[in-house]
Amino acid sequence: MPGFKVAIDGPAGSGKSTISKKIAEKLNLTHIDTGAMYRAITYLALEKGINLDDESEYEFVSKVKIEYKNEKIYANGIDVTTKIRDDKVTKNVSKVSSFPYVRRTLVSIQQEAAKNIDVIMDGRDIGTVVLPNADLKIFLTAHVKERAKRRLKDKEVNNVTQDIEQLAKELQERDLKDSTRKESPLVVATDAIVIDTTNFTIEDTIERITNEILKRRITMEELQMKDV
Ligand code: CDP
Ligand code: CDP
Repeated sequence: MPGFKVAIDGPAGSGKSTISKKIAEKLNLTHIDTGAMYRAITYLALEKGINLDDESEYEFVSKVKIEYKNEKIYANGIDVTTKIRDDKVTKNVSKVSSFPYVRRTLVSIQQEAAKNIDVIMDGRDIGTVVLPNADLKIFLTAHVKERAKRRLKDKEVNNVTQDIEQLAKELQERDLKDSTRKESPLVVATDAIVIDTTNFTIEDTIERITNEILKRRITMEELQMKDV
């Protein structure tokens, strides 16, 4: 059984990880937050003190062990859940994740992790590169001011010290880097459903996506019955 796959993509602060986590709990899917993986690699690169601009220094990525346990993320056995949200990591993560070697290594880990299970995976290239045959693809977006406001609301969790104008500017810079890189940029998959959450609560968005998942599952079951 290949498992049921949901791909959630979109720009920073559109609600991908919060919403994916809640849908996973509700529908008994495994949630994989791929942004946390790129952040973990960026954290390790900073700790190692490598030259962040030199792709040849990222060979360590293929040997890194990333694990999720009890809502925490571990890199090489170290709990990095809080550390990966540091401003220094946020400022460098788009650069680190633009290197083809880093991306190809993490994409293959992500594809392996999603094999044979029911999964909801969120990131930037899930519907286009990681799970191109996903059963459902969602592209979440929201106005940049609203995304900055959300980040500010959760100040401590998101380690935010900037004001709203500065935050909006940084989000836009990161979106631009993520959308213009050569290797698997942030783009809307042609078969994705685009949901603008600017005026949606978290609950509204969860309900909308849950309905899409249930519809898709019913269609798939009907098709399977026809095959029997
Ligand atoms: O939560 P936030 O929107 O701040 O970002 P994230 O999902 O934690 O992702 C952090 C960064 O990792 C993004 O800005 C991208 O540069 C990179 N990323 C990526 O390139 N591909 C993915 N599938 C996920 C994240
Ligand atoms: O993963 P991504 O960067 O797309 O966003 P997130 O980290 O899940 O959400 C960013 C912040 O926005 C979190 O603090 C969410 O609780 C909040 N949020 C919100 O207030 N309303 C929404 N409709 C979606 C997210």
